[in-house]
Amino acid sequence: MSAIHTHLLGTGSHLPSRRLSNADLVAQLAREGLETSDDWIVERTGIRARHFVEPGVTTSDLALQSSLNALQAAGLGPQDIDLIIVATSTPDMVFPSTACILQRKLSESSEQAKGILGAAAFDVQAVCAGFIYALGVADAMLRAGSARRALVVGAEVFSRLLDFSDRTTCVLFGDGAGAVVLEANDQPGGILATEMRADGRYVDILCVPGHVQNGTILGDPVLKMEGQAVFKLAVGVLEETALNVLAKAGLQKTDIDWLVPHQANIRIIQSTARKLGLPMDKVVLTVQDHGNTSAASIPLALDSAVRSGHIRRGQRLMLEGVGGGFTWGAALVQY
Ligand code: UT7
Repeated sequence: MSAIHTHLLGTGSHLPSRRLSNADLVAQLAREGLETSDDWIVERTGIRARHFVEPGVTTSDLALQSSLNALQAAGLGPQDIDLIIVATSTPDMVFPSTACILQRKLSESSEQAKGILGAAAFDVQAVCAGFIYALGVADAMLRAGSARRALVVGAEVFSRLLDFSDRTTCVLFGDGAGAVVLEANDQPGGILATEMRADGRYVDILCVPGHVQNGTILGDPVLKMEGQAVFKLAVGVLEETALNVLAKAGLQKTDIDWLVPHQANIRIIQSTARKLGLPMDKVVLTVQDHGNTSAASIPLALDSAVRSGHIRRGQRLMLEGVGGGFTWGAALVQY
């Protein structure tokens, strides 16, 4: 029997229409008495703009648009999917999963789309490494024969978790969604290797510590981050995980055509690229336009480079992410 491989059939993404440049955000924060500047944000992070949802727009709304775009790119419809995984830390509800809500919305998109009902659907919560985790889980399920075609989405409305009185975090994040359609078949290539890692000792350095209890929110339901601690851990683990997946696939650094990293900070991305011996023109960069969109950042970056024609069929892509938990991981993909 020939081996089964997981292939990327199509990519899609979606950004909310409300775009805030650094100047817009600086002006908004100044009205609240908070001092920051375009210079500081650009120099320390590389971010120049981010998108925020309008009131009433939810993660599943963004996930729906990115999924429809990815399905269209794959030449498929919702009825062709038998597994839905949504990576998010900003679900529409405590439960059911955003993946189930997305399934309902997709099923309502056309008469044939009802065929998606019955597909397995669940969320993955690994914060900014969420898309890597979701991709790894989908790949394992497809290769095990649990499903044939998967929709894997990273979608977030991080703007709703931000404390707009904390300048050290509120300038960093944005909202958005990205999606890929995967298919299991016996053609060589596709997802070559994945790795998912976590170290729970670092739960407190990046977290939203609030929770719901008996109808009340207990604790602080806004994002807290020890930026420098996260930065130091991130640069270490991102190199290690990339080398691990290269070794698993029996490949070298020089076999990477594109680095598609989590878009949190351009300095982390530059450091990772340097360690992997990749010039910056081999790195997909969207942090300047999107900010940090957590689980959505990698599929948003991937889709932008595919649609602009930079990433081409057959090229090898190193996707990697790191986030709260502490979680991190990578996926090496032949597109
Ligand atoms: O997606 C999950 C992974 N997350 C990340 O990868 C984030 C990792 N961390 C980072 O990207 C960086 O640590 C930050 C961008 C968050 C911060 O950059 P930094 O170079 O580590 O700055 P810092 O925290 O050392 O702060 C430097 C100075 C401080 O002032 P003093 O103490 O030197 O006087 C801060 O108070 O910058 C000040 N500062 C600001 N100034 C203007 C902090 N935030 C701001 C701000 N505007 N928004």
